[in-house]
Amino acid sequence: MEIALLGGTGDIGEGLALRWARDTDHTILIGSRMPEKARSKADAYQTQLTERGVEHDVEGYGNEEAAARGEIVVVSVPPQYASDTVEAVVPALDDGDVLVSPAVQMTRDADGFHYDPPAAGTVAEAIAAAAPAGIPVVGAFQNLAAGALTDLDNDLAADVVVTGDDGDAKEVVRSLAEDITGIRALDGGPLANTGVVESITPLLINLAMNNEGMHDLTVRFQ
Ligand SMILES: NC(=O)c1ccc[n+]([C@@H]2O[C@H](COP(=O)([O-])OP(=O)(O)OC[C@H]3O[C@@H](n4cnc5c(N)ncnc54)[C@H](OP(=O)(O)O)[C@@H]3O)[C@@H](O)[C@H]2O)c1
Repeated sequence: MEIALLGGTGDIGEGLALRWARDTDHTILIGSRMPEKARSKADAYQTQLTERGVEHDVEGYGNEEAAARGEIVVVSVPPQYASDTVEAVVPALDDGDVLVSPAVQMTRDADGFHYDPPAAGTVAEAIAAAAPAGIPVVGAFQNLAAGALTDLDNDLAADVVVTGDDGDAKEVVRSLAEDITGIRALDGGPLANTGVVESITPLLINLAMNNEGMHDLTVRFQ
């Protein structure tokens, strides 16, 4: 499968790219607004994987070309740019593609981080509003700390809650999440349920900030 990571040059994009490249034989397409930056980041990810003796397929492209090639398109950009980023790649999306939102919109003040969803209800729903009809959106990975993914020596034991209205799309993303060693993916219901998943992330960051040894917390429901 070909997985495109729009803004795959950033933190969560790097983490997902390295884990999928290490744990699967999927092709990982790093996207960027600047194709040269994507190629350079892809090279850096390849070097890391090669040093570990891992076979991989990581390539760098502009966001639009990554979206055109990818069947799964992860919108891994800051939440306030998610809708514009999707709108910019709409011509590149084909029937059967699936958009994935890992995004969480938060504010920060002296007390810590606060959930601050956009007018659409959630970032996932804002992405759905920007997406063409017929391209399903799935919420996933919002509660995975990038640092927990990028440290490939870290043994993950994390749950990923997957939300969406298209059962087939949700199952594809659930299965892709579980392709990453140490991840269990759980069905969180329809896309309208994404808010409760997104809202867990500021809690995780506040816990990490206020408690020793809780850096890069992940969630496990048991
Ligand atoms: N970091 C985490 O631990 C984490 C965990 C779970 C979910 N998330 C979510 O994942 C998403 C990405 O987070 P991140 O921490 O990876 O973000 P980030 O590193 O700050 O940014 C990711 C990429 O977004 C692109 N970008 C920056 N400004 C942009 C703009 N104005 N328009 C379009 N693209 C822009 C950049 O790529 P180019 O310059 O190459 O285009 C950048 O490398 C967020 O929505 C966040 O809520 C993050």
